[in-house]
Amino acid sequence: MIEATFNESPGLGEKVHELAIDIIVTGRRVLRLFCAATTAAMVLVAMPAAAEEKPAAGEKSLYERVGGIYGIAATVDDLVDRLYVNGTLNANPAVKAVHDRQGQAGFKVLVTAWVVEHTGGPKMYPGLPLDKAHAHLKITDREFDVVMNECATTFYKFNVPKKEMDELMALLGSYRAAVVTSK
Ligand code: HEM
Repeated sequence: MIEATFNESPGLGEKVHELAIDIIVTGRRVLRLFCAATTAAMVLVAMPAAAEEKPAAGEKSLYERVGGIYGIAATVDDLVDRLYVNGTLNANPAVKAVHDRQGQAGFKVLVTAWVVEHTGGPKMYPGLPLDKAHAHLKITDREFDVVMNECATTFYKFNVPKKEMDELMALLGSYRAAVVTSK
């Protein structure tokens, strides 16, 4: 049946052959494109957030530039003391309940360890991922802004240089979506 059709239409065989080659070539192109897109997606997923990029060879990490664990612990100590008595934050009943438990010492350890780890220091954070840690608190954008503001106040107080302060603020700011769950 197919043979008969070929014989009745001279040149059809070549056309089918050309078409088959076209399909194979196009198929290969699509496959190549798919592989390139998959590789690009894998590279993107493996990359750290821009705010947490690793320093180039020979450059000091943000952790080192802000004074390592002593520098970070000192700033967190100052910051957390002010957060615990902040009126806007304590207007959120879930946050106030945490502050009323008076667990500042442990909280300071957790926040210090988180900052150490996320600025390129040793891996030492034993706490929850930030989305899980804040989910029950129903934190608003305004509350997040208040915390960012208090962070800036602490960095000015400790004379953190502009470059490092910008990097710290960008790092903290990049977690807004993980922390804010109430609009
Ligand atoms: C980028 C900004 C923030 C960072 C890096 C951060 C960091 C942390 C860390 C490391 C913990 C401990 C997690 C654990 O218990 O395993 C925590 C818990 C907590 N954070 Fe944040 N936080 C941020 C923003 C905020 C904001 C905006 C608020 C609003 C008031 C807030 C309030 C709290 C409270 C109340 C807890 C204790 C939760 C509990 O024990 O039930 N945080 N945060």
